[in-house]
Amino acid sequence: MTSSSTFAAWLRALPALAGEPPALDTDALPDDPVVLFERWIREAAGAGVAEPHAATLATVDAEGMPDARTLIVKDVTDRGWAFAGPRGSAKGGQLAAAPAAALSLWWQPLRRAVRVRGRVQEAPRQESDADLAARSAAAREGLQPGEWVRWWLEPQRVEFWQGASDRRHLRIVYERADRAWTRSIVNGETTKSER
Ligand SMILES: Cc1cc2nc3c(=O)[nH]c(=O)nc-3n(C[C@H](O)[C@H](O)[C@H](O)COP(=O)(O)O)c2cc1C
Repeated sequence: MTSSSTFAAWLRALPALAGEPPALDTDALPDDPVVLFERWIREAAGAGVAEPHAATLATVDAEGMPDARTLIVKDVTDRGWAFAGPRGSAKGGQLAAAPAAALSLWWQPLRRAVRVRGRVQEAPRQESDADLAARSAAAREGLQPGEWVRWWLEPQRVEFWQGASDRRHLRIVYERADRAWTRSIVNGETTKSER
């Protein structure tokens, strides 16, 4: 086993924020974060990111203890971000006790990350069953309809983060006020709020 200082030095020597983002016109951003998410995830796939729809989902249990795991984003619409899993899983229990979550995605070669947080609602039964039916036979193995659940994360806040080599990182933050979205852009130390 290496000493912790050696290990810390090894960690420090690893590259970070080594990617390169594509051009982004902050004067021509969509009003809807779903539109920007689709654009960014398609750009990530186009840049060769394997499984760009893999995300970290964070939840809390009834005591407020956080938990996080990787899963697949199944859909993104006006309703929010959809994901699925077994009702009897830890995340299923945590979402029943505390129906809110955060999702985080990181697309290294583009130096981009997205964060979504909000309340979580279980989808109607037929939607969960359709999600299960769409899985491969191997992935359905041992799962009964009713045990597999699709959830919708209804976003209150969506942050698009793009790293800059001069460390003046760009953050585009959408926040829901009633039904409409407000948007602010933080670029280095400058904040610009729109609408
Ligand atoms: C790339 C990847 C994709 C995954 N996709 C899912 C998924 O869509 N749904 C799911 O329940 N678990 C998925 N998992 C497994 C979860 O990471 C996790 O192990 C499992 O859901 C149990 O988590 P929980 O005990 O916190 O509920 C995936 C894991 C990886 C690495």
